[in-house]
Amino acid sequence: MPHPPGRIPVVGDLMTVTSQTPIQDNTRLVRELGPIFSKRFFGNDIVIVAGADLVAEVSDDTRFAKHVAPALDRIRGAAGDGLFTAYNDEPNWQLAHDILLPAFALQSIRSYHPAMLEVANRLTVAWDGAATDSRPVEVTDDMTRLTLDTIGLTGFRYDFGSFESAEPHPFVEAMVRALAHAQAKSRELPWIGPVLNRGADAQFAADSEFMASVVDEVVRRRKDSGDTSTGDLLGLMLNAPHPESGERLDEINIRNQVITFLIAGHETTSGALSFALYYLAKNPAVLQLAQAEVDALWGDQDDPQPTFEEVGKLRYVRQILNEALRLWPTAGAFAREATVDTTLGGQYPIKAGQWLVVLAPALHRDPVWGDNVEAFDPSRFSPERMKARPVHAFKPFGTGERACIGRQFALHEATLLLGLLIHRYRLRDDADYQLKVKETLTLKPEGFELTLVRRTAAE
Ligand code: HEM
Repeated sequence: MPHPPGRIPVVGDLMTVTSQTPIQDNTRLVRELGPIFSKRFFGNDIVIVAGADLVAEVSDDTRFAKHVAPALDRIRGAAGDGLFTAYNDEPNWQLAHDILLPAFALQSIRSYHPAMLEVANRLTVAWDGAATDSRPVEVTDDMTRLTLDTIGLTGFRYDFGSFESAEPHPFVEAMVRALAHAQAKSRELPWIGPVLNRGADAQFAADSEFMASVVDEVVRRRKDSGDTSTGDLLGLMLNAPHPESGERLDEINIRNQVITFLIAGHETTSGALSFALYYLAKNPAVLQLAQAEVDALWGDQDDPQPTFEEVGKLRYVRQILNEALRLWPTAGAFAREATVDTTLGGQYPIKAGQWLVVLAPALHRDPVWGDNVEAFDPSRFSPERMKARPVHAFKPFGTGERACIGRQFALHEATLLLGLLIHRYRLRDDADYQLKVKETLTLKPEGFELTLVRRTAAE
C-alpha cells in the first residue's frame, strides 16, 4: 500500500502526523500518493481512502460498518454512548435511534421552523446594527451563535441567548477546547506524551464536566416545568418509550444524548454556513444567481419572514450549500471497519475488524467531479449533473445507518438563513480574506469577516 516517503523505523510517518491540520495535509497527500494510502505511527497503521470507487466499496453495509476511530473515541469522555460516539454493539444506540428518529421527520422539522426563523431574526438584528455602523462581522462566531441557539430552542426549548453576549457562550468554549484536545491526542507521543499533556487532559476533564453541568441545567428546567410532551428531542428522551419494546432511555444515557445533540447539532452546521458565505463573497456571479432566486420569492419586501414551504423552493441556495460542503465537508472524515475479511479495490486485503478513514474533502475532489475541482460551482448539484455522478462521490453526512440523523434539520436551517442573508445584504469582503481553515475535529474558516450593506429594492 502506498505511504508517505521517508518512513522511519519505530516512529513510522511521525513527521506527517504532527501537524494541526491533518485533514488538509492528508488531502494534499492524496494528490501525491493516490486514492488510498497508509500512515504508520509508532507501529499503528491508519489506512486513508479517498477514491470514489473505493468509498463506494467501504459504504457497502454488507462488508463495512461505522468505526469509532480514536479521535471520536476520546469524545466518549464527554458524550459516552450518545448516538454519535456509541459503538455499533451498544444496545443504547438502537434504543435511542428508534426513540429519537421522529424528531427528524419532515413534520417535526416543519414544527421547528418558527424557532429557526426567530433565531435568524436575532442574527439579522445584530447584522443590521453592524451594517448601520459599517462595522465588520465575525462570520464564524455569529454562525455558531445562530446554530447553538437554534438547536437549544428547537431540541430542548432552552435559550442560550448567544446574541445577547459579546463573548461566545461558555458551552461553546468548553466544547471547542474538548474537540481540539481529542484531535491533538492523535499526535501525542507514546510514554512521554501523557506526562507532557497532563494539564491538557485535566482541562478536558474539566470541560466535559462543565458541559455536563449545562446539560443537567437544561434537563432540570424541563423536569421542573412539569411538561411531559414529546414534541422535541428532550421530550422524546424524557417521556417516550421505545415504540416496540416500551423501554426508556436511562438518566446517564439522556445526559450523553443531550451533550451529543448540543455538539453535533450546531458545530458542523455553523462551519457549513460560514464556508457558504465565504464562497458567496468571493463569487459574485453565483451570488447574483442566488439573489435572483430569493428576489423572485420576496421581491422588495424589507423584512420577509419565509414560510416552511418557501425554504423548499430555494433550490439554488441549497446547491450553494452542497457545493460548500463538497469543498469543505465540515465533518471532514469518518471511519469504517470491515465486518468480514474482504479485498478493497481488487488488490488490498482487509481483515475483519480493520478500520479505514474516509477522507471527505479528498473524495469530493476525485476526478469524477471533473477537471476543475477547486472551482466553486453550485451547478454541479443541478438534478441532471447529480444523476450523472456516482452516488457515493458525495459524503458530507457519512454513510449507512450511522449517517447523520440531523441532515434535513441542518439543510433546512442553513437554507433558510442563507436565503434571508442573500436577500438582505450585499456581502463586502473589504479585507480580501484569504481562506484559512481551522481544524478542531470539525472544519471552519478562521478569522473570516464580512462588511454588510443593506440591499435596497433597486439592487
Ligand atoms: C452523524 C455530519 C448536522 C446530529 C454525522 C456523521 C457525519 C455528520 C459525517 C457521521 C459520523 C460517523 O460516521 O462517524 C454532519 C454535518 C452537518 C450535521 C456536515 C451539518 C452541515 C447535524 C445536526 C444534528 C446532527 C444539525 C442534530 C440536530 C448527528 C448525530 C449523528 C450524526 C446524532 C450520529 C448518528 C448515529 O450514529 O446514529 N453527522 N452533521 N448532525 N449527526 Fe450530523
